[in-house]
Amino acid sequence: MEKKWWQSEIVYQIYPKSFQDSNGDGIGDLNGITSRLDYLADLGITCIWISPIFKSPMADNGYDISDYFDIAKEFGTMEDFKVLMAEAKARGIKVLLDLVVNHSSDEHPWFQAALADPQSKYRGYYIFKESAERPNNWRSIFGGSVWEKLPNEDVYYYHTFHKKQPDLNWENAELREEVYQMITQWLELGIAGFRIDAITFIKKDLSFQSIEPDGVDGLAKCTKVSRNQPGIEVFLKELNERCFKPYDAVTVAEAPGVEYDQLDEFIGEDGFFSMIFDFKAADLDVVSGSEWFKPVQWKPKDLFDKFKDSQLAIQKVGWGAPFIENHDQNRATTKYLKEAEKNPKAAKALALMYFNLYGTPFIYQGQEIGMINFNREGLESFDDISSIDQYHRGMAEGLSSGEALAVINYRSRDNARTPMQWDDSQYVGFSTVAPWLAITEQSLERSVADQIHDEQSLWYFYKKLIALKKMPSCETLVYGQIAFVDLENPEVFAYRRFDEKSSYLTLVNLSNQEVEFPLENPIVDILIENGGMSLSHRHVTLPPYGATLLKETTNGNY
Ligand code: NOJ
Repeated sequence: MEKKWWQSEIVYQIYPKSFQDSNGDGIGDLNGITSRLDYLADLGITCIWISPIFKSPMADNGYDISDYFDIAKEFGTMEDFKVLMAEAKARGIKVLLDLVVNHSSDEHPWFQAALADPQSKYRGYYIFKESAERPNNWRSIFGGSVWEKLPNEDVYYYHTFHKKQPDLNWENAELREEVYQMITQWLELGIAGFRIDAITFIKKDLSFQSIEPDGVDGLAKCTKVSRNQPGIEVFLKELNERCFKPYDAVTVAEAPGVEYDQLDEFIGEDGFFSMIFDFKAADLDVVSGSEWFKPVQWKPKDLFDKFKDSQLAIQKVGWGAPFIENHDQNRATTKYLKEAEKNPKAAKALALMYFNLYGTPFIYQGQEIGMINFNREGLESFDDISSIDQYHRGMAEGLSSGEALAVINYRSRDNARTPMQWDDSQYVGFSTVAPWLAITEQSLERSVADQIHDEQSLWYFYKKLIALKKMPSCETLVYGQIAFVDLENPEVFAYRRFDEKSSYLTLVNLSNQEVEFPLENPIVDILIENGGMSLSHRHVTLPPYGATLLKETTNGNY
């Protein structure tokens, strides 16, 4: 495979509302991000993905855009954005923006014009259906029907997500043209590419037939008929040809619903995108990413198998985007480590588990200091629209209010959206006033200030992992192939990254027991370990939650 510039990047995701407030309004902003670029450079980050910064009524914290060409007032101005770009460039940090074009806000002028005049061409930019009743029984991702009735007409409009996020009609060529021009305009400003939101939803089953209900509400999950539908390839190819290819832009698509045997089309040599996120490991604890009230019991082996299957499928055709956290997930410490969520050694094991998988690693803000979930006392303390919906759906499906609260406390997207913990001052260095969303830990155990000067900290561990990956002599950790080692112990994860020159072995013990791992090849170097490991000629012994990255001699047989 020909090497691409984006394969050696280390990407850090910023949720702008929660990263750093610079103007004392309790909301993070662009100048706040700029002020933390030195921090990111120090950690070793080479690229940031900033969740949406565009003008928005913030029903879904910016994933509802009302002007694609302007910056949300909470976040600053276009000038601030240009300063951020220049300062990032000065530090060798590239910038990815979030492209949200499955839907806009209902406050976007296109939608407003469509509402104001049924004859307007903008009716064609969205999906409107004339009907005296709800056109079908599809359920939206954030709850209720995908259809919302207009107040004074027998007309409904379609929304995959919230009713304040009407879907754009990709069947309309004029709309697509406007979208492409908008994308080009941002690329012209020098951004390196995009993370692309919910892109597999842009093609629907145009028959709009009702389907078999799957809940007590009589509705059926819309994903079955509105995600990755036949014909989507026409739009995705055009999008790539018109927008991304000419700029050699990197694209990381949120593309749920893509099966492994379709990966070639999506991320192969002439695929639609550079990479896509695979959510199978992230969502292993629920029946589906949008139904948290249906939990799934899992063991470490299930997690390892998800990574393994995903990686082997991706390696066959393209390039991966490994991650353990993002703004839609609960914290990885809480999810994957359970009772060990506060154990820094275990958090280091998680870091090592995924960081050298095949692909460009993504780190979500706060992951590098081991931030954990936040427990809320009642529904009124949640901001996330999805949590509120899941609470009600859970109860409709038979949970008590306490059980429903427990479900959303555990799974809420708000867990990842609490303010970044910079220090242990009253507002954790995020702001000078009470932040828009409560801080996770009132008596702070995890902060950047605590960890940044402590060579034993999780933060430092990430810094070392990043530094290793960037060392020219460790190139194999970036470009090498991956192979998984089959082990009897279901709580140990082991994989190799290798090429003709070198071989690196990652070993991770996700149990609270000591484990012994037999060595096939002599070890020449211990690149990193999280403490307490012992190495003999034939074995590595890992303490509870022990993890290590070893360089071994190659026998060329992998
Ligand atoms: C996926 C985004 O990651 C999520 O935060 C958002 O709510 C939905 N898409 C809708 O844009």
